[in-house]
Amino acid sequence: MTLFESVLFYLTVTLTLLWVYQIWDRKNRRLPPGPFQLPLIGSILQIVLADNKYPFKAVYKLSKKYGDVMSLKFGSVNAVVINGYDTIKNILNQEDFLNRFDTDWFLHRSFGKRIGILAASTEVWRPTRRFTMRNLRDFGFGKKHFQQKFLDTEMHDLSRLLDQAIEQNNGVIEPHTLFRIPSVNIAWASAAGSRFEHTDPKILKLVSLMSEFTSTASILDGVPAAFPFLLRWFPSFFSIQRLSDIDDEMHQFLRTLLSDIRGRETYKTDPDSFIEAFLQHMESDKIISPEDREVFSEESLISTLYDLFLAGSDTTSASMTFALMWLTMYPEVQEKLRNELETVIGNGRLATLEDKLSLPYARAVILELHRHNHLVPFMPRKVYKDTAYDKYIIPADTLVVVNLYSALMDDDFWGDPQNFRPSRFLDDKNNIINAERIINFAAGKRNCIGEIIAESTIFAFVTQLVQKYDFLPAKDGQVFNSDKIHGGVLSAHKYQIKVRRRV
Ligand code: HEM
Repeated sequence: MTLFESVLFYLTVTLTLLWVYQIWDRKNRRLPPGPFQLPLIGSILQIVLADNKYPFKAVYKLSKKYGDVMSLKFGSVNAVVINGYDTIKNILNQEDFLNRFDTDWFLHRSFGKRIGILAASTEVWRPTRRFTMRNLRDFGFGKKHFQQKFLDTEMHDLSRLLDQAIEQNNGVIEPHTLFRIPSVNIAWASAAGSRFEHTDPKILKLVSLMSEFTSTASILDGVPAAFPFLLRWFPSFFSIQRLSDIDDEMHQFLRTLLSDIRGRETYKTDPDSFIEAFLQHMESDKIISPEDREVFSEESLISTLYDLFLAGSDTTSASMTFALMWLTMYPEVQEKLRNELETVIGNGRLATLEDKLSLPYARAVILELHRHNHLVPFMPRKVYKDTAYDKYIIPADTLVVVNLYSALMDDDFWGDPQNFRPSRFLDDKNNIINAERIINFAAGKRNCIGEIIAESTIFAFVTQLVQKYDFLPAKDGQVFNSDKIHGGVLSAHKYQIKVRRRV
């Protein structure tokens, strides 16, 4: 045997033994099935072979062979991936799957602790989330007239920008930056009960910190997520220090905003926002136990506010950027939506949130936006103890990835998931159908807390923009790149369109 043949022989024998061992081990430990895991790289080869651009598509394809609950190894990280609407709903309703998967760099945002909401451990998360939800609802976005007032003001500022573009730039705009300030402003308004003028240096600072955080953090989504030890070995290569600096700047920035609110002192007797209610509760004599002191601390409030900005701004802004792209690419959808608005509301006023129930086509357009955008395709959770699901045992400390893409783009259920077709949500009597399938905000106890805020914002912006403006391609024969840019939240490639004023 030549050296090459010997190497090939021993390699084949080793891999075969490993393969047999993996089959035996999975059966013995009742692990979910999955592709063969190679030393060092785990299942990465099979993932790349299934789809080399989008891991969530690759995993959805693999699930057709291995089933809805599948074992994978992302490099050095053991994972179980959950696919399919029914299985996802089932898993998300179970207590054992409530914990979030986190990493050191992500926890730096919350002072290295599992506090706040997004990355909080379940013990801290439960009271923090309960308090936040109740107060967001009581003071702000739970109330329609409050929402409407803020959204109308944001819309007014947006219109001013579009009118300026019509006057100065023949109506040509680049939508990807258009919605950043309104989205951050709405997240701030929901917590603070007030908004910033679009020229206020504070909102400009917030928007720039958030944009820099997401663009820097998106680098950590690929190779370093699969090989986390690389972050420890080469921190500067992955800009870990810059992320920590952004966190520190954000903490300082939020501290200053909070000290302005504290200076007013009215929160002590008459709180009128989530932030004021939190400060009042934090300083009250109800906080006695060490657990309460951890939940109701300034660090916890800062972490929660950071979470709201992080989870709320890019998502809303990306939804609206995609919305203008789809409406321009599908002029017949834009026209049908406008016709419904004209028939139901007329030309005398703009749509309000109260009109929602009488606008089924508008609702169908927004459901289709959520489905087609699938902005957060992969959702990371974690099990901390051996957890039984169906006939399997998911070992403690496994990363559990919920693949929302597999439900929102399920070929078997939707038939033509790649097409942008709002009518799929209407029956022949114009009633909404299949809305429950749109789990882009996830489901269960740890679903998105900003669902109402995002829904209202997107509804108000889409309907009012279509009433006021036509959205057209910037050039004849323009081809749009509707592929998504991969990151924690999917986003659209830069594009240009033309706006024309209607009313
Ligand atoms: C189209 C817009 C949005 C989408 C698609 C979206 C989607 C999601 C998803 C999929 C999750 C993960 C839920 C889970 O793990 O089960 C989540 C969590 C979260 N979202 Fe949103 N979101 C949006 C807008 C917002 C807004 C506007 C806010 C707040 C202002 C917000 C705040 C949060 C927070 C704080 C969490 C963490 C919840 C927890 O861990 O308990 N989101 N969102």
